[in-house]
Amino acid sequence: MRIKIKKPSDLTDNDVTDESIYKNRRQVLRSLGYVGASALLAPHAKAFNWFSDDDEPAFKRRPLTYQSDKNDPQTITPEDKATSYNNFYEFGTDKSDPVENAQSFNVNPWTLKVDGLVNKPFSIDFDNLFTRFPLQERIYRLRCVEAWSMVIPWIGFPLAQLIKQADPQGSAKYVAFQTLRDPKQMPGQRNRFVGGGIDYPYVEGLRLDEAMHDLTLLTVGLYGKSLPPQNGAPVRLVVPWKYGFKSIKSIVRISLVEQQPPTTWNTLAPHEYGFYANVNPTVDHPRWSQASERRITTGGLLARNRIATQMFNGYEEVASLYAGMDLRRLY
Ligand code: MTE
Repeated sequence: MRIKIKKPSDLTDNDVTDESIYKNRRQVLRSLGYVGASALLAPHAKAFNWFSDDDEPAFKRRPLTYQSDKNDPQTITPEDKATSYNNFYEFGTDKSDPVENAQSFNVNPWTLKVDGLVNKPFSIDFDNLFTRFPLQERIYRLRCVEAWSMVIPWIGFPLAQLIKQADPQGSAKYVAFQTLRDPKQMPGQRNRFVGGGIDYPYVEGLRLDEAMHDLTLLTVGLYGKSLPPQNGAPVRLVVPWKYGFKSIKSIVRISLVEQQPPTTWNTLAPHEYGFYANVNPTVDHPRWSQASERRITTGGLLARNRIATQMFNGYEEVASLYAGMDLRRLY
């Protein structure tokens, strides 16, 4: 049985993405002379970018078996949008760089290490990622801090299941995540301009209670198949009530720790990106408003798909995690 979380924020047919938006996106951007560094970076940090004309994905995805509710009323962003408009700076900072540059990313063999303040540390290999825990489909909204959003059917398992198997010690208060560091495979890790000036590996963190929340998904697939490299193969995090940069990709290590761990965007620009990064329409990014977002689902390239941003991205069930906290200060 698929876990169904019904909320007032459940999506409607209006949320379906029109496939045509990005078909010629690169050509349009090129003709405008725009080489498209991500809004995440401050303007002076705009990274070098190049275009390849080879759009053919070579990476092989495996079909997955998972529990899902086919009658789910939510509608989703078409797959080709979610897998071609990405942020994965290890492969370049333009939205089309990951799909263009990551197709030869080799994810098998893979080792995901679970360690730190746990009584039963363990490792999971590539095949185990898909078999150790029962897989389920979760249709979540993904709200990027850049003020665009999508609706994506992820496949994975609650992170809580993995953490429970590791048997956390009482002193564990946070969970630290780390992406693969492999400059041979990741051009952004070989060259600071290509990689947006980030000190790799990309790292992220959650408070332990956030990590244990049922919505927090360790994700191995989308749209019925294993993840393509541009979306974080073979395993990534999805935390739907937080800005997308918390949803770290291609994870090799999950460590339980006592102190709040450093996180990539907070380290790079602390005044712009906080540790918590809860979606919050009342706390603007210093360089743009967070009151609304561009839903990548309907209309053409110039269509105004603006919708109001919801607190916690509409996942109000997490509000109690932050009771008594000043979310303007702890953004
Ligand atoms: N993880 C790593 N390792 N590197 C990245 O650059 N980008 C983040 C997040 N995870 C990123 C990452 C950002 S900013 C977003 S919005 C989401 O991935 C995008 O996920 P998607 O490409 O699957 O939509």
